[in-house]
Amino acid sequence: MAAQNTWSQRFESALHPAIARFNASINFDIQLLEYDLTGSQAHAEMLAHTGILSQEEGEQLVKALDKIREEYQQGNFNPGIEAEDVHFAVERRLVEMVGDLGKKLHTARSRNDQVGTDTRLYLRDQIEQIRNQLREFQNVLLDIAEQHIETLIPGYTHLQRAQPLSLAHHLLAYFQMAQRDRERLRDVSRRVNISPLGCGALAGTTFPIDRHYTAKLLKFDDIYANSLDGVSDRDFAIEFLSAASIIMVHLSRLSEEVILWASEEFSFVTLKDSCATGSSIMPQKKNPDVPELVRGKTGRVFGHLQAMLVMMKGLPLAYNKDLQEDKEALFDSVNTVKACLEAITILLREGLEFRTQRLAEAVTEDFSNATDVADYLAARGVPFREAYNLVGKVVKTSIAAGKLLKDLRLEEWKELHPAFDADIYEAISPRQVVAARNSYGGTGFEQVRQALLLARSQTSETGY
Ligand code: ARG
Repeated sequence: MAAQNTWSQRFESALHPAIARFNASINFDIQLLEYDLTGSQAHAEMLAHTGILSQEEGEQLVKALDKIREEYQQGNFNPGIEAEDVHFAVERRLVEMVGDLGKKLHTARSRNDQVGTDTRLYLRDQIEQIRNQLREFQNVLLDIAEQHIETLIPGYTHLQRAQPLSLAHHLLAYFQMAQRDRERLRDVSRRVNISPLGCGALAGTTFPIDRHYTAKLLKFDDIYANSLDGVSDRDFAIEFLSAASIIMVHLSRLSEEVILWASEEFSFVTLKDSCATGSSIMPQKKNPDVPELVRGKTGRVFGHLQAMLVMMKGLPLAYNKDLQEDKEALFDSVNTVKACLEAITILLREGLEFRTQRLAEAVTEDFSNATDVADYLAARGVPFREAYNLVGKVVKTSIAAGKLLKDLRLEEWKELHPAFDADIYEAISPRQVVAARNSYGGTGFEQVRQALLLARSQTSETGY
């Protein structure tokens, strides 16, 4: 029996059905169809441009490829496992449509440079989408921050109350993380956007192709200088996965905070019904499933990064089938990041309400103004370390007496140190504690207002 595959003539028999399934990537690489068609159209145009095919042949191929695109969009292109992968599926359909001409498309090309081209086109597109989603996420953070410049929230280190903050300042920290994420993706896309098309199987081709021509048609910034590197490089995918992992770190940290804030113990936020879920048994429950899922999904993206690094590390040059494993890692990471960004943006925009009354109380019930007492003395000439030690003692005795710093009488302050005066009360009020941190990048209201302006310009059309 003659084998059925595209490479069948060299083979006596068909693949074992289980091996065919094992080998096939069509189930997932069908997601590359759009990019495969675009890449093939550029290749066909180049073949005609260089005279490898006639003008007419080139045009016919481009048209037929358009038809396949239409068929797919209408749900009429559903290649099965026998196609092996998206590249063979397209070629097969092409031959059905235009006969022998369809068999000419693969002149001067290999699936190795083809799949590399498709993957890069896909990723370039996805990176743009993710960058736009990040921008939206940033804008929502800014919208909320603008409403909460003067809302105070306890700031923590070691998850212990440290110093009070402007809530806007806290939110702007996440804005900055997202800003780096956008920049990182932009940088990654510079290395994604290089064309391997024309590298052939590994060594280039005997045909007088024009690699710059296809690169230009496909809007690549550059072409790979070395054909072996071109077909086997997946650095760009690893870079993307590490950028995606860092995005997930940021979303996961925010999620963790929202989960804490929504707990009874913190009670800093209320979750709205549209973004919270109930329990099947405990009627009183309202669960923060959205941030929990984001936190939970983070590991998947980290896992894909790890899988890709391990997959690459032992590969001899050039193409090896192991590389087929890059796709599911990329697809799942892209889908996960996009889904998480969408969900968390909705959660912020309409699923969360800050309990400002509760927050205002929270910043008055602790010793998070202790640094300001030390700063008060230091500003009046007392060496900071001496002031620090003195305040440490006051905190200790206050805790023992069940008092807060604001409860100390002026005589008590003066007894501790003659530099204390009536203005100490103002200096340690939460609002003043925040306002006073007016150093560049600090939580002082004036700084936060400046930071907000700058942030807005960073997400504007002209910002990047
Ligand atoms: N489906 C393959 C992949 O995803 C396409 C390239 C196949 N190349 C080959 N030499 N078998 O990597």
